[in-house]
Amino acid sequence: MHTITIAIDGYSSTGKSTVAKELADYIGYLYVDTGAMYRAVTLITLRKGFISEENIDTEKIVEALPDIELEFQKNAEGKAEIILNGENVEKQIRTLEVSEYVSPIATISEVRKKLVEQQRKMGEGQGIVMDGRDIGTVVFPKAELKVFMTASAEVRAQRRFDELVARGHQITYEEVLENVTERDTIDSSREDSPLRKAEDAIVIDNSEMNQEDQFHVLLQLAKDRIAGRI
Ligand code: DC
Repeated sequence: MHTITIAIDGYSSTGKSTVAKELADYIGYLYVDTGAMYRAVTLITLRKGFISEENIDTEKIVEALPDIELEFQKNAEGKAEIILNGENVEKQIRTLEVSEYVSPIATISEVRKKLVEQQRKMGEGQGIVMDGRDIGTVVFPKAELKVFMTASAEVRAQRRFDELVARGHQITYEEVLENVTERDTIDSSREDSPLRKAEDAIVIDNSEMNQEDQFHVLLQLAKDRIAGRI
């Protein structure tokens, strides 16, 4: 059977990871959450003390890159979780502290170069659904299906707020909204691989869509593209 590459990009908290993973499971493709990779690099640099409120020590971060090893491993339920230097950090990368610093870390070209190389290797010779910010523009510019997911900042902040509260975080909606809009600005205005829609990407605005609707739209698009390859 012919396999294709599916690139899903979009703003933070659009729920793209959830629907991308659901699609990958359904069609039997590998799913890669590239945001988790940028988050893991942020986590280790925070732990090493290369980030403080006043300063991000880019030089030290770049120096440490060769010692950062990332991989994905499936847990008992079949969900791929990120492993940082042998440690499962799936939970630790989702804190607000990591969310606060991940966008500036993702502006560092050397970080991007290392992660993009690894992402391209993961896509070799197999069907893959990859989500992130630069998948359709930089990582896989020839992907057969490119989707750009968007929703209003308020809707995205509410979703993220509900998620964090459910996980027991003490936080206000305003703080989450600020983090979401700040990340949008940094991700879209950085020099290296800014978040933008690839010319040939299909836009899905999911402000008014539930998860099931999104899945069906995405599945139909994937089926059409896969059929086109036979
Ligand atoms: O999808 P996410 O919110 O987990 O991503 C975290 C951050 O990582 C996001 O603010 C931007 C960055 N990122 C990126 O620059 N390129 C990617 N391919 C994926 C994420």
